[in-house]
Amino acid sequence: MPIPNIIAIDGPAASGKSTLGRRLADSLGYLFFDTGVMYRAVTWGALLRGLQIGDEIVVTYLAETAQIDVRPPSKDDGRACDVLLDGVDITWETRRTDVEASVSPVSAYSGVRQALASQQRRIGLRGRVVMVGRDIGTVVLPEAGLKIYLDASAEERARRRYEEILQRGGQADYAKILAGVRNRDEIDSTRAFSPLRAAEDAIILDSDKLNADEVFAKVEALCR
Ligand code: DC
Repeated sequence: MPIPNIIAIDGPAASGKSTLGRRLADSLGYLFFDTGVMYRAVTWGALLRGLQIGDEIVVTYLAETAQIDVRPPSKDDGRACDVLLDGVDITWETRRTDVEASVSPVSAYSGVRQALASQQRRIGLRGRVVMVGRDIGTVVLPEAGLKIYLDASAEERARRRYEEILQRGGQADYAKILAGVRNRDEIDSTRAFSPLRAAEDAIILDSDKLNADEVFAKVEALCR
């Protein structure tokens, strides 16, 4: 069986999608594209401009007009890619806690989703891509040759985020992170437009039960 040209990886926040996607793309020589950074870039842009996150019209206008670029990493500082908003490097701003707190409502707006998903689809259709997100297998690239849905418990995902922040030298409160993960899960999976769910033809893996190496080995075996 040939290696699938388009690989979609979906799942909730901090389930290990990006780690898996990046590693898989490296091993196949494919482009790695983490679509969450685009929703984060719009959210950061809205906060920077002092927009009301609850104002769907202005936030949607921003998503339709802002120039978001996602490029291979230009620095060796732990980033998976460079994220630029209107030419400015905002890679680390997209990981801020205020962005995390507002990104789910921003990504629930249908106009925001349409604007970003059409850019993602255009890039994905070029092929040789591993695209990671919430709706890649269901909406953005339903023709993907391999669809993975990577799941994990909220507790395990909060623990990973907590350790990631500490490793970067930041301060973190586990209980707050867990509450944030649960809140985002709730919004992401109950929103009206392209909610988080596994595609019918997705292979579901639980990363509570498998470590990162085991998840990677399973998915690589499915590809080759
Ligand atoms: O994967 P992440 O944590 O960087 O995603 C940030 C937010 O973006 C998340 O709350 C859900 C949203 N998102 C989405 O709705 N659709 C995608 N394809 C990717 C992310």
